[in-house]
Amino acid sequence: MSNLRAVVVGLGTYTPARILTNAELEQRLDTSDEWITSRTGIRERRIAGPGETASTMGAAAVEAALTDAGLPVEAIDWWVCATNTGDTVFPSTAGRILAHLGAPPRPAFDVQAGCTGFVYGLELAANAIAAGSARRAVVVGTDVLSAITDWEDRQTAVLFGDGAGAVVLEGRPGDRGILASYLNCDGTGGPFLMLPAGGSAMPASVETVAHRQHYLKMSGREVFKFAVRALPDAVEQVLSRAGLDLADLDLLVPHQANRRIIEAAVERFGLAPEQVVVNIERYGNTSVASIPLALADARADGRLRDGRLVVVAAFGAGLTWGAAAIRWGR
Ligand code: UT7
Repeated sequence: MSNLRAVVVGLGTYTPARILTNAELEQRLDTSDEWITSRTGIRERRIAGPGETASTMGAAAVEAALTDAGLPVEAIDWWVCATNTGDTVFPSTAGRILAHLGAPPRPAFDVQAGCTGFVYGLELAANAIAAGSARRAVVVGTDVLSAITDWEDRQTAVLFGDGAGAVVLEGRPGDRGILASYLNCDGTGGPFLMLPAGGSAMPASVETVAHRQHYLKMSGREVFKFAVRALPDAVEQVLSRAGLDLADLDLLVPHQANRRIIEAAVERFGLAPEQVVVNIERYGNTSVASIPLALADARADGRLRDGRLVVVAAFGAGLTWGAAAIRWGR
């Protein structure tokens, strides 16, 4: 084991140019801007254009993160890509990202843990750095949820958007970096959020396509009930693992699935609005990209400052949940 901690030395994001507004959804579906904004907080989301895939968007986010870190792609010796909408079931989207970037051969793989995938990736990379098997690692989260959204299902079509985000982690001595993480999964909740067809349980067939089983299915209320418990649990557990408590928390960066889920956690913890990053109105739920996109916004508005204690926390399909406590700064 090394005495090095995984420090975020670069952060980058990518979102497609195409903006899909609630007004456009009103034209296509039996829904309203009023319903979407009051029930979810979402006003618009980004949608991948022709030729944009999980790997192309992920590669663009990594490029931005490498530029931010001032590092060439050769400096990265360990890669993990969180995604639920990889370009193909295999090979991995991580491998494709290496190819897009002209990266030399290195360990690279995908992690699939619903919207919590980015947080899972952070723990894996932090462990690889602590174990001495990696010096610098990339964690990239990229999802093209528009590709698995049933655009005729108003219960899900209004929620999701596309995007990617990446961090470069480097092992460094000192007190900055990932202090602790917490991961969990309750497999009995799997059926509440799933893509039924296309895997070994239900291989693709004419029937699965006819029955729209290649689209995401969600029991919104069940996932909502789970999320309002899981988000606070993740925050409390990770603070406790870091030997800290709520009073130490400077900034909460929650997964952006529904403004009401975030507000429930804020209320429970008695946090001030400026202590919580919310950007769901512009991106919708981008799954594994939502935390890096929110981190980038918090940095842009000056809230992500050196020395601050930041907790990133997520929940999603699995059902998974988890968090990481990060002492921000290089
Ligand atoms: O990142 C992965 C994790 N995912 C989540 O965290 C999502 C968690 N779930 C949610 O955020 C919420 O459950 C939703 C936003 C999906 C739904 O909000 P809700 O307040 O739970 O609504 P509901 O499903 O209970 O539906 C309320 C009503 C229903 O009509 P009736 O039965 O009361 O007549 C729905 O048919 O709203 C109706 N409805 C809509 N109306 C207009 C559902 N979707 C829409 C829509 N536009 N898009």
